[in-house]
Amino acid sequence: MTFDRTPKIAPSILSADFANFGAEIEAVEAQGADWIHVDVMDGHFVPNITFGPTTCAAIRPHIKTVMDVHLMIAPVDPFIQAFADAGADFITAHVEAGPHIHRTLQAIRAAGARPGVALNPGTPASAVEELLDLVDLVCVMTVNPGFGGQSFIDMTSKIKALRSMIGDRPIHIEIDGGVAPGTAKSVVDAGADVLVAGSAVFKGGSVQDPTPYGDNIRAIRAAFA
Ligand code: DX5
Ligand code: ZN
Repeated sequence: MTFDRTPKIAPSILSADFANFGAEIEAVEAQGADWIHVDVMDGHFVPNITFGPTTCAAIRPHIKTVMDVHLMIAPVDPFIQAFADAGADFITAHVEAGPHIHRTLQAIRAAGARPGVALNPGTPASAVEELLDLVDLVCVMTVNPGFGGQSFIDMTSKIKALRSMIGDRPIHIEIDGGVAPGTAKSVVDAGADVLVAGSAVFKGGSVQDPTPYGDNIRAIRAAFA
């Protein structure tokens, strides 16, 4: 995987049909998805539960692009190896998930995956300043994590601060939450290059009728092109 900062759309399967992940992933990739964003929630770090490493391993063969696993769990460390073994390309942990995020990021790299660090809306950019030499991705949450379909929270100044802090390092800036055609341009202009979008990509479509997925992805791209 070569690094580049061209904007990428990463549909979140949180908004897909949970009984049909394999076909949903294949449909959304055929409709133009660049990465597949996989939201893991534990009912403890966030007030919702999705699925764990077994589901990640099961969907992996259906992903041709990039498997981007977002862990909204605490603790993280006991589960890193299982998510790496499931075939995750990126494993992102929250800076708020425990006292030893530095160790967590080292462990993700040691397990063979690319480490990412996520920041909740209430966490400042400075919280990751000492971690930038350990990560391949910084995820800026533009909603409080736990649910799809929430309203976008403007984090423009945080994104700009991170973009300048990152400098020439090959680190992606990912935006997660409330991304839609109306919000995509502001985050790309501020320096983001990976746009997670759940409800805005999956709305109106299905495995049987996937064309809306492509229309929705093109509408987001058109907003920042
Ligand atoms: C929120 C998740 C997001 C979510 C985004 O906790 O981390 O990835 O699926 O959904 P939308 O795009 O609907 O805000
Ligand atoms: Zn996410």
